[in-house]
Amino acid sequence: MTTPLRVGIVGVGTISAQYLASLPRLPGLRLTAVADLDGDRAAVVAAEQGVTALSVPGLLASSDVDVVLNLTVPAAHVPVGTAALEAGKHLYAEKPLGLSAAEAAPMLALAQERGLRVGSAPDTVLGTGIQTARRLLDDGTVGEPHAAAVSWSSSGHEAWHPAPFFYYQPGGGPLLDMGPYYLTALVTLLGPVERVVGTSRRSTRERVVGAGPRAGEPVPVATDTSTEAILEHRGGATSTVTMSFDRWATRRPLFEVYGTAGTLAVPDPNHFSGAVEVWTTTTREWRTAEVAAGYADAGRGYGLADLARAVATDRPHRTSGALAQHVLEIMDAVSRSSAEGAVVPLTTTVERPEPVPLGSTPDSW
Ligand SMILES: NC(=O)c1ccc[n+]([C@@H]2O[C@H](COP(=O)([O-])OP(=O)(O)OC[C@H]3O[C@@H](n4cnc5c(N)ncnc54)[C@H](O)[C@@H]3O)[C@@H](O)[C@H]2O)c1
Repeated sequence: MTTPLRVGIVGVGTISAQYLASLPRLPGLRLTAVADLDGDRAAVVAAEQGVTALSVPGLLASSDVDVVLNLTVPAAHVPVGTAALEAGKHLYAEKPLGLSAAEAAPMLALAQERGLRVGSAPDTVLGTGIQTARRLLDDGTVGEPHAAAVSWSSSGHEAWHPAPFFYYQPGGGPLLDMGPYYLTALVTLLGPVERVVGTSRRSTRERVVGAGPRAGEPVPVATDTSTEAILEHRGGATSTVTMSFDRWATRRPLFEVYGTAGTLAVPDPNHFSGAVEVWTTTTREWRTAEVAAGYADAGRGYGLADLARAVATDRPHRTSGALAQHVLEIMDAVSRSSAEGAVVPLTTTVERPEPVPLGSTPDSW
């Protein structure tokens, strides 16, 4: 058992509750401080957690923080992350890694230069759902995978989020918001992407805050609200991707992978667990697969715990900045393809992270 990594959270809004719920059960991590532009919000969370509320510069300068957990809105991911690295802290950030791969690249270079780690959400791919799907694919259960189809849609997050404005600003939209879950899972299952083609549109539907104290306020829209894309993976498989804030109802499957000897129905990559269903040319029926890999009962924060363990053992961490940057570049390339009407090749690549064995915890692998 090594010394826990001391965690300072910047941005204690909606998603922070999920991290705060996981942190106490992750022995490799210890929360020491929180900060938010909204100092009152930081003070409330600090009191609940029994830690110190600091200003953002105060937290970055604190000698009681080893890693900054950046849970701010997308436009602040790179500025806050860069400042954290400049202050000598490791960084773990919510998705997307930045507003664009070009914005995030200097931050990753800085981390490399300083010998610091960068990790990024989503860490749902480390749970039993996607890891079991990966094990089945790697074992050849459905033969050689040659295609995948993913489709996420809703009528828009303004229906439930108390401050949904960032979802409709650069860094938001369905592609940058939900794409990271699906694309990180696709890269985990089928490997890196080499080129993409896509098309996006912006609906004219007016968006209005649907919940919380600001309900009824209009939400300005500065992003596309529906995207379709085709990705070509290095290994030869093709993925089709739909991400939309414009659909009231759907019956399309969320996630399927097609192989030469069967099909996998993959559970929701925005969740850590969920049943994987398998149809093979041998069984000729859908069967639910046994859970075969992944961190059990995981939650948001396990990727950071994985990073903490990697720091302690001098090994690579799984939900890495490089993986998040590749995913961000895929999303940039889809938008560029839509704007230019062209097939766009990627400049980054990444190896699939190490699989997570069943029964392991971020402290035991
Ligand atoms: N809400 C969800 O269900 C959800 C789920 C998964 C991931 N995420 C991601 O988490 C991130 C945050 O989302 P959220 O829903 O918690 O947003 P939110 O608006 O509820 O909270 C963001 C918090 O960050 C603070 N903040 C913004 N800029 C800051 C800065 N420069 N310095 C310090 N504090 C700053 C805000 O004051 C706010 O308290 C986003 O990247 C989002 O994509 C959200």
